[in-house]
Amino acid sequence: MTLAQLREMFPITREKIYLFNGNIIPCAAPVRQAMTIFLEEWTRTGDGCWASGLEAYVEAKRLFAELIHAAPETIVGIANTTTGINMAGLMIRPRSGQNIVVTELEHMSDVYPWLRFKRDGVEIRQVAARNGRIEMEDFARAVDDQTAAVSICHVTMGTGFRWDLAEACRIAHAHGARIVVDAAQAAGAVPIDVSRWGVDFLVTPTYKWLLGPLGAGFLYVCPELVAACDPPLPGWFGVANPSDNDLRHPCWHPTAHKFERGAPNMIGFVGAAAGLKLLREVGHKAVFDRTAQLAGYLFEGLSELGVTLCTPRNPAARAGIVAIQLPGQDRLWRQLEDSGIHIGNWLGCLRIDPACYNTEAELEELLKRTGKFMTNSVPMGGFGG
Ligand SMILES: Cc1ncc(COP(=O)(O)O)c(C=O)c1O
Repeated sequence: MTLAQLREMFPITREKIYLFNGNIIPCAAPVRQAMTIFLEEWTRTGDGCWASGLEAYVEAKRLFAELIHAAPETIVGIANTTTGINMAGLMIRPRSGQNIVVTELEHMSDVYPWLRFKRDGVEIRQVAARNGRIEMEDFARAVDDQTAAVSICHVTMGTGFRWDLAEACRIAHAHGARIVVDAAQAAGAVPIDVSRWGVDFLVTPTYKWLLGPLGAGFLYVCPELVAACDPPLPGWFGVANPSDNDLRHPCWHPTAHKFERGAPNMIGFVGAAAGLKLLREVGHKAVFDRTAQLAGYLFEGLSELGVTLCTPRNPAARAGIVAIQLPGQDRLWRQLEDSGIHIGNWLGCLRIDPACYNTEAELEELLKRTGKFMTNSVPMGGFGG
């Protein structure tokens, strides 16, 4: 598939330069089409939509498993990251005297689910960031033999810092701790290999780099914990044979399907499957390479302009997010919006997240406007006189 063909699938490219893809990815034509077909079937047939919804649900989990190098039997469908982290927390169930290690770069989704355990005598440890990143030695110092779990973002949503996940897993496991990974800003942007790295739980929504809709996501549970854990939120969809309607002795499905709850958001997973199919069609490696290439181009261009880069320089320590600070950034953000360039403005930074369908020309336009803004807003004699 050529870049022009891919861009055709993102009608937003005809309207504006969209560079906040790590927030909500714009709907791609094949995703919209798949969801529309489902809606039409539902309209025409009522419960006739269940079978095709279920087929898409299974397909979405299979495609996600392939992306993260897991077996499909280890994947659970969920509504969002928050649900997945809460489920992981309930499966781990830290006890009094144990601790949970998080960092100050996490999303609320990765911290709030653990706070309930404080009343059971569990300590929540927060590792401080240095220069927009977590240093591995700071993390290693926080983890000890009482650590029940570490809960971290593979790629943080503020500065775009990417963990060395293999090393984080090694440190956690050396202390017998479980590792819970929020991959919302990583899945579909950078390679992930849960099997090789030994990740215990990995969670992501689909509405970012997976090109899917809001309200759908995935939870990976490592095979050992699939076998060992009871369903944290038990429901009829998790049993081996729902038509038994056994109210006394539920027979849980032998795979991670046992962690399912009630009827899933079928239309969401129809869209999720279409997004994952599109990623596969472009090619996972091609998508990762392209994302890295665009982020690198942007990083260099912004460095040359002299803005403060909050994202690490090392390409292995970043993904698709580039965050910057500069004097008057709120005004720049407004000017860019007015000129049809959409980027993020939060957590004290401007955030630019190019995805595989963006072009260097779009980034050049952003750089040009940023450069012009800086020239016009620097007082005579430069900053500080
Ligand atoms: C790293 C990260 N985690 C989680 C979320 C959102 O969580 P949820 O899927 O529960 O809405 C976001 C959204 O921006 C995110 O960037």
